[in-house]
Amino acid sequence: MTDLATGTPELKEAVRERYAAAARASLDLVGGSCCGSACCAEDRADPVTADLYDEQAPDLEGALSASLGCGNPTALIELQPGQDVLDLGSGGGLDVLLSARRVAPTGIAYGVDMTEEMLELAQRNKRAAGVTNAVFIKGSIEDIPLPDNSVDVVISNCVINLSTNKPAVLREAFRVLRPGGSFAVSDIVLTRALEPEWANLVGLWTGCVAGALVDADYLRLLAEAGFAEPAIQVTRTYDNDDLAELAGALPASELPAGAAVGQAIEALQGAFVSAFVRAGKPID
Ligand SMILES: C[S@@+](CC[C@H](N)C(=O)[O-])C[C@H]1O[C@@H](n2cnc3c(N)ncnc32)[C@H](O)[C@@H]1O
Repeated sequence: MTDLATGTPELKEAVRERYAAAARASLDLVGGSCCGSACCAEDRADPVTADLYDEQAPDLEGALSASLGCGNPTALIELQPGQDVLDLGSGGGLDVLLSARRVAPTGIAYGVDMTEEMLELAQRNKRAAGVTNAVFIKGSIEDIPLPDNSVDVVISNCVINLSTNKPAVLREAFRVLRPGGSFAVSDIVLTRALEPEWANLVGLWTGCVAGALVDADYLRLLAEAGFAEPAIQVTRTYDNDDLAELAGALPASELPAGAAVGQAIEALQGAFVSAFVRAGKPID
């Protein structure tokens, strides 16, 4: 783990500010910065967030264009009508709205997010989609505002890496799941620890890379939280062009002294992947 992973209010605030700005940009229909490189409306080829969904629904266009994930958890888990689902860090709401349609008419899809502007965007996208069984709640994923044993599936898309207290997030996910429930999360995962001068870059943390857990730590923390059969399946790797785009988006003032994009590529090469992380809450 990095020094930053010990968690500071300033780091959490930097995450909130970055995603508040992205939400404001989407609300203004201008585009926004997101997981991965800065992405403007004309730059949807972001290596981390691009091409994750093949949904064509016109009523979900706003939510689709606001999506800042690094995977598509709703494509990787089979949801059943009547199930209750929780999305950790629901952003513009796409995964909540897709889930809500699958668990209708009796199931509810909840989204928790700490950023007011994202909640406003999600509510706008919910109205546009005409979905009635989705509930967006303001809160921290380290302290989920739902009762014990209240949902069947916990999903999340490129958010847990941003948390400054990942053990708390995983314990909370376990607490709110009903026995027999599933943890089904898309996230960035490290295949090796980053060197400290990269691991401590705030821009690389808020961009979803520096805060990511090393795969073995993710599996260990899931088991420590009580989960059974934790598993990680790689869904996407990143080549040097992707890394150049990511590194090029970091403010020069943030790069380690004297480092250039080429060094960033070297430091990040093969170090992170997008992955589907799954585990189950035992029945007892
Ligand atoms: C990269 S975006 C992903 C949004 C959404 N999951 C998606 O796929 O588009 C990260 C989101 O997580 C939220 N977030 C980050 N850390 C959080 C925390 N500790 N508690 C609650 N929300 C958090 C941010 O406000 C932002 O909306």
